[in-house]
Amino acid sequence: MRIAVLSGGRSSEHEISLLSGEAVASGLEAAGHDVVRVLIEKSGAWITDGHPVSLRPGEGMEVAGDLLSIDVVFPVLHGPFGEDGVTQGTIDSIGLPYAGSDVLASAVCMDKLTLKRLCGFHGIPQVDFVQAFTPGWEEAAKRLDFPLWVKPSRLGSSVGISKVTDPADLTAAVEEAAKFDPRVIIEANSTGREIECSVLGNQNPDASLPGEILTDDEWYDYEAKYTEGRTRIAAPADLDDEVSGAVRDLAGQVFTMAGCAGLARCDFFVEESDDGGATILLNEINTIPGFTRTSVYAKLWEATGLAYPELCDRLVRLALERHQSESEHSF
Ligand SMILES: Nc1ncnc2c1ncn2[C@@H]1O[C@H](COP(=O)(O)OP(=O)(O)O)[C@@H](O)[C@H]1O
Ligand SMILES: [Mg+2]
Repeated sequence: MRIAVLSGGRSSEHEISLLSGEAVASGLEAAGHDVVRVLIEKSGAWITDGHPVSLRPGEGMEVAGDLLSIDVVFPVLHGPFGEDGVTQGTIDSIGLPYAGSDVLASAVCMDKLTLKRLCGFHGIPQVDFVQAFTPGWEEAAKRLDFPLWVKPSRLGSSVGISKVTDPADLTAAVEEAAKFDPRVIIEANSTGREIECSVLGNQNPDASLPGEILTDDEWYDYEAKYTEGRTRIAAPADLDDEVSGAVRDLAGQVFTMAGCAGLARCDFFVEESDDGGATILLNEINTIPGFTRTSVYAKLWEATGLAYPELCDRLVRLALERHQSESEHSF
C-alpha cells in the first residue's frame, strides 16, 4: 500500500513527532509498504519532498498538480492540531482512511477534563478533581488535600503542569496552566506507581503487558521524559499477575469507553495496599503516543511479542477496516 505518514505538526511536540514519524515510516517500509513522508511545518503547511501538498476535499492529496494515490494516511502527530481531532477531521474531509482514532475520540482524550467526566459517568476510578474558574471552584478545591496537581486540560509532555505543595502557590500554578489553556484542572495527588498499557485494535482491542515508568526525578516532567538516561521503562512492569491482568482489562475497557480506534496508550496510577490489594486509577489516554521503536507504546508491544514493523502494519489494516465499516453507514 501507499501510505502518507504525517509528522511534525503545530504543537510544542513537533520535534518529538518528527522522530516518531520517521520511525513509523521506516517500520512501514520494513513491512513492505511504499511511504510518502509528509512534514507538517509549525505554520501548519503540509510539505513533501520540498513541495507543498494540496488537499482536495473528497478527492485526495495533490503535489505539483498530480493527485497522489494514497491508500491510508498515518498521522504521527502529538498534541493540539494533530492529536486532538483537527487533523483527523481534515483527513475525513479529504475522504481517506487513516490510522488511529476518529475526530470525537481524539478530542475527548485530548481534553483531560472531558475524559475525566466521562470516566466519572462510567465509574472508572480516578483521582478527585475540580475545574478551575467554574462557579465555586475555590471553595470546592478545599476538599482536596495538598499536594495538588494543576494542569492545562489539553496539552501533553507535562507542559504547564505543576505539583503544588504549599497552598500559597496554588494561584500562581493555576495562572501558569491557564497560559496554555483556559480549561484548567486541579487534582488530588496519587502516590501510586506509574503504569502504562498499550492498546491495539478497533472493537475488542488487545492490551499489551503493562510497563512501568521509573524515573529518578521527582515526577515525570518534560526533562524526565526527554533527557536521555533520566527515565527507565520496565517492560513489562514487575506486577502480580492479578494486578497486571486487571490493568490490561481496564485499559481495553477505557479504550472502548472513549471510542478509540487503532491505538492508544492508557496511563494509570497503581496504588498498592499492605494487604496485597491494588487500586488502579486512570490518569489519561494518549491516542497518538510517542511512537519511536524505543517509545513505551512500541516497547510494550515488543515485550508482548509484536515486532515494530508488524505493529505499524496492523495499524494500517485497522485503518482500512474502520474506514470500510464507517462507509457502510448512510449520513
Ligand atoms: N494526580 C497526580 N498524582 C501524582 N502524579 C501526577 C498526577 N498528575 C500528574 N502527575 C505526574 O505528572 C506527569 C504528567 O501528567 P499527565 O497528566 O500525564 O500529563 P501529560 O499529558 O503532560 O503527560 C505524570 O506522568 C505524573 O508523573
Ligand atoms: Mg502523561
